[in-house]
Amino acid sequence: MSKFFIILVSLFMCIIHSHAHHSLYKDASLPISERVEDLLSNMTLKEKAMQLTQGRIGENDNLNNLENGKQKFIPTTGSFIFFGTNVIYRNEYQKRAVEDTRLGIPLLFAYDVIHGYRTVYPISLGQACSFNTNLVEKACRFAAKEASDTGINWTFSPMIDVARDPRWGRVSEGYGEDPLVNSAFCIASVKGYQGNDLTHSDTIAACLKHFVGYSESVAGIDYAYSDISERAMWETYLPPYLAGINAGAATIMSGFNDINGVPAVCNDFYLNQILRKKWGFNGVVVSDWNAIRQLKNQGFSKNPLVQGSASLKAGNDIDMMSGIYMRIPKMVEQGYIDEATVDDAVRRVLELKFKLGLFENPYTTVQEPELCYLKEDYINISEQLAIESMVLLKNNQVLPITSSTKIFVVGNLLNDNEALLGSWAMRGRSEDVFDIMSGLELYKPTDVILVDSAENADIILMCIGETQKMSGENGSRSTIKLHNQGLVNEYKKYGKKIILITSSGRPISFQDIEENADAILHIWQPGTTTGTALAKIIFGINNPSGKLAMTFPRTAGQIPIYYNKHQSSRIGNRDWSGLYQDIESTPMYEFGYGLSYTTFAYTDLHINQDTLEAQVTITNTGERAGKETVLWFISDPEASITQPIKKLKYFEKIDLLPGESKTVFFPINKSNHLSYDLNGKSIFEAGTFNILVGTQLSSFEVN
Ligand code: GLC
Repeated sequence: MSKFFIILVSLFMCIIHSHAHHSLYKDASLPISERVEDLLSNMTLKEKAMQLTQGRIGENDNLNNLENGKQKFIPTTGSFIFFGTNVIYRNEYQKRAVEDTRLGIPLLFAYDVIHGYRTVYPISLGQACSFNTNLVEKACRFAAKEASDTGINWTFSPMIDVARDPRWGRVSEGYGEDPLVNSAFCIASVKGYQGNDLTHSDTIAACLKHFVGYSESVAGIDYAYSDISERAMWETYLPPYLAGINAGAATIMSGFNDINGVPAVCNDFYLNQILRKKWGFNGVVVSDWNAIRQLKNQGFSKNPLVQGSASLKAGNDIDMMSGIYMRIPKMVEQGYIDEATVDDAVRRVLELKFKLGLFENPYTTVQEPELCYLKEDYINISEQLAIESMVLLKNNQVLPITSSTKIFVVGNLLNDNEALLGSWAMRGRSEDVFDIMSGLELYKPTDVILVDSAENADIILMCIGETQKMSGENGSRSTIKLHNQGLVNEYKKYGKKIILITSSGRPISFQDIEENADAILHIWQPGTTTGTALAKIIFGINNPSGKLAMTFPRTAGQIPIYYNKHQSSRIGNRDWSGLYQDIESTPMYEFGYGLSYTTFAYTDLHINQDTLEAQVTITNTGERAGKETVLWFISDPEASITQPIKKLKYFEKIDLLPGESKTVFFPINKSNHLSYDLNGKSIFEAGTFNILVGTQLSSFEVN
């Protein structure tokens, strides 16, 4: 055999081998870790940089987010925020990545599915007031179905920033002021979005945001500096993230905020030391929109190579929309960062894509769009969640309306369906919303008449509240007075009973209007099924069961005000306990407050000193069936590190028929319920603890 022929054959074999070797990552029978390493070993530095870059496809409908220069589609980009709804269009982009590039790495399509996609559920702060995690898990499951049917495989949700300042518009997006409530709904959302197997076509990767402490924005201003003590971080802001990571959340988004002088996007301590090293999170961290370039504004650096390398080294894997990570080859070349660090980030992105099954199933099945949305199950869950999120704040025996009554309905909510959808309504449409008047018409008893003037009415049903843009991102307000509250005083002159139906994306001040209302039902922003959910409550078909997940101050001057505060050094008599001189210092309505059309009695609180199991009996002492959320609070009145006056440690929601009693149990354990956090370490100190549930209070000793 001639030498030439031998060389030719061996060359051919090398090509075959290298090609075969190169496509090892496409072999689905191999472990993901092997596929990742094989693919990574074949990538150029530029290809790696593109995998860490996130662009957008479709028209950006978030007007808060400006863009840097013209967007051009580069098929080797790692991920896109998909503002489109056309699956064929989406698959064409995917095809260019999978079939027209050297390595065929599929794209990730992300979107902000915060409280629904096309079917809109109540805003998250309203959902939290339901205290019904099963219902929220179902809602997120259905939201994932609608979104994945449209080609989305990654949502930037749940937002779990514990919120204590209602001036900040984004309190609407999270689950209120309590760390346990945010943790519980974080777990429910992650389970709902991700299901049991991320390779299933109807699951989407969750994203815990905005890591960390973004809600502690100075003065309630958005995007601002956050000055947070380590105590507050460990006691309040970090726990929901650990809960979400333990629930298997695939990704995390770093915040816009500057954390005590080190902006979140390049904060090595929280991203690398805590998230990755202490908690072992090995998922993807994505920046917020243009956050890396914004490091210039925050006084960190004007140099994009410093901005980018600092963020990447800190553990921020993907650059959302700044384009700076596309300069990673230059950062490596000039010694700002080593390629091994780049590889770590690329590994996590590739692993996410393999976990999502994108290499095997990169395309979304094309269906008739309208058949994917607003399905009966989705609507039913949306309505149930809307009903359970509404909070009855006052009722002078005027609700429910059941007997023959003439009602005059008035207020800005009657003609503003967008307001009822709330912020981040995404593909939700105002024309899909079941509006308030239609709901009242549909469910009113035959002898209840809707009249067209206040004079002719027995009751004025006043539906007032914030517009969609008054809360959410970039929705900070210096006052929390209710938008259009002047209407209450205007209609007071008719001398009729006034039922206030209020809507907002934040706790609001009822200081000026509470006394003129005979009933107040706060509905938050209930979403697509507002009209039917509200009518069912007003006419008593359903009994309200919502409880506040965030305290309502009397006035903005009290902010920050929250239930789990630390004790003052002077307490008791108001004259010398440092309280306000000009107003009552307690909140208007505290965390956990909410009325029902029935009443519940709490009796026989007992703690088993051996097993530390607490139990209490709850009886429905009224005439109607109702749901009651049982909130268990623990306090530790003496500890080397002072503790909040009380902390929610357990909750569950029960159904009770009239006259029915149930015994509810709370299995107390030292580490979860009686210890406190000292910079990440759980500390238990023996001593006396107090337990509060409903009207029952007791103490117990633990050694
Ligand atoms: C926004 C928000 C973030 C959202 C992202 C993408 O600025 O801060 O919550 O996920 O941009 O829309």
